[in-house]
Amino acid sequence: MKQENIRNVAIIAHVDHGKTTLVDRLLWASHVFRENQQVEERVLDSNDQERERGITILSKNISITYKGVKINVIDTPGHADFGGEVERVLNMADGALLIVDAYEGPKPQTRFVLSHALERGLRIVVVVNKIDRPNADPEGAVDKVFDLMVELGASDEQLDFPVVYASAVNGYARREPDDGNMDMVPLLDTILDEIPAPDVDIDGPVALQICTVDHSSYEGRIGVGRLSSGTLHEKEQVLVVKPDGAERRAQIRKVYTFENLGKAEVTAADAGDIVAVIGIEDADIGDIITDPENPVREMAPIAVEEPTMAVVFEASTSPLVGREGEIVGGRQLKERLMREKESNISMRINELEDKSGIEVAGRGVLHLSVLMETMRREGFEFQVGRPRVVYKTAEDGTKLEPIEEATVDVPNEYAGKAIEVMGTAGGIMEHMASDETMTHLSFSIPSRGTMGLKTRILNATHGEAMLFHHFKEYGPYTGEMAGRKNGGMIAMSTGKAVAYALDTLQERGRLFVAPGDDCYEGMIVGESAKEGDMVVNVEKTKNLGNQRSSSADKAIQLTPPITFTLEEALEYIEDDELVEVTPQSVRLRKRLLS
Ligand code: GTP
Repeated sequence: MKQENIRNVAIIAHVDHGKTTLVDRLLWASHVFRENQQVEERVLDSNDQERERGITILSKNISITYKGVKINVIDTPGHADFGGEVERVLNMADGALLIVDAYEGPKPQTRFVLSHALERGLRIVVVVNKIDRPNADPEGAVDKVFDLMVELGASDEQLDFPVVYASAVNGYARREPDDGNMDMVPLLDTILDEIPAPDVDIDGPVALQICTVDHSSYEGRIGVGRLSSGTLHEKEQVLVVKPDGAERRAQIRKVYTFENLGKAEVTAADAGDIVAVIGIEDADIGDIITDPENPVREMAPIAVEEPTMAVVFEASTSPLVGREGEIVGGRQLKERLMREKESNISMRINELEDKSGIEVAGRGVLHLSVLMETMRREGFEFQVGRPRVVYKTAEDGTKLEPIEEATVDVPNEYAGKAIEVMGTAGGIMEHMASDETMTHLSFSIPSRGTMGLKTRILNATHGEAMLFHHFKEYGPYTGEMAGRKNGGMIAMSTGKAVAYALDTLQERGRLFVAPGDDCYEGMIVGESAKEGDMVVNVEKTKNLGNQRSSSADKAIQLTPPITFTLEEALEYIEDDELVEVTPQSVRLRKRLLS
């Protein structure tokens, strides 16, 4: 049965291709904005960090009502570290809008979400945005999307995708790039016509599988999912069926659906709609909420991402800490992290046995650094040690480690270099394709090999390579890696490479020169320079080309006077170091011996 008055559509876009602007325009077109609200108001990116980092961290839902049909627009996280979340939110959708910049075409970051959407059989509507740009090539962008979809294994039906051309910033959508239309109607109509209505059992027993959970101090636990059959009422008695088969009765306190920009409390929600359920305190991903008299116990299981990296948070021990207004105590730190545990199901948060710190396990360095950055902005001060990879033990007792899938896009001339760097990090090449200018590579690589990998590959390819990686599976531990010397040393073989590396130091943080590598006289300055810890004056590196080169007789460490982003710090940190996080700075320092 089709629920004709609802559409659930996921939105997939590369950072900056115009997702937020487009959604703003769709809302505006459906007269959501009250007269005194600014059209420019940003809707999707409510989290400050998201805007600054240019990634959508949290998935959020909004809805648009058009021609009597409620369109739930489901945001998808753009970054592959949030892969599990991507799958869960796609679970709630029947189709997706793929937004592509008319000039840039589809970018590697959208591949991951798109491939999942295709795998789930979702109907894709391609929105070629920014057609007003002077260099726009809308038809070229469509061709690239087609090629990408073929590569990702789209079905014939998916390849026959509808295309809408848009200039979100100017508020128009068109069926042809220059048909002159000046409103958003063609896109809204295409959504209604092309995205299938939810195929649900409208009169059947209540059944809802929880896809995401949230927490509010006022409402408590919030479970979100799509009602796949029946009508769910507030205060209804339900059966909660856990993924392991355990079940218990519970009473729903409130039901919300997504209305316009936020949630709206309703007395009942219809099959096919996306609902938030309040009152089930142990609600978790994958739980089925169903009718006790006529329960639905079987639904496809939902993937929850397993943590692959962990860091230990400790209260700061630096003598510099404790400026006014900062939160430094161990107790506050613990309380804050335990609060996070409530709502952030993709992180595992546990106090160490000796109570010396709290270990937080998440999905890669970005995932961990997002939490750290949030806390930093809240005024917390703390330190973390080097991330460790989370190993698992297989049933036969052998050790398993997280393995990731990595893609590298690089100009052809640097493909060899990129392959070399990936190889020394333990990467095994699985696919290689090139066109006139670019080579596209994919690898299987142990998570531990990805630490600092971005920097090394950028250094080796003059900053040209684009690397993305995401968790694939746990596989057998492959042993020590030969390629990395002395825990993070970058072997630079030519003076040119060193000069280049120094030029980019200001952006990239810190790097190392190995014994025997070429380096330049005059580049080591400052009274504090001592063996193994030499400081470079970055200002001077600009003229390196005119200076004499000589060979380093010992390993030297080049530390430019910059502060790190948290992500960089976690990638660079050595075993005997700590990342010290304060509201004012992020810096690496040697662990104090106690
Ligand atoms: P994030 O919020 O960073 O995830 O990006 P986004 O995909 O939401 O893109 P956003 O809507 O923030 O747009 C990115 C930039 O592109 C902004 O500067 C917009 O003003 C601009 N932009 C959006 N749509 C268009 C368009 O149709 N034409 C042109 N020329 N610029 C656009």
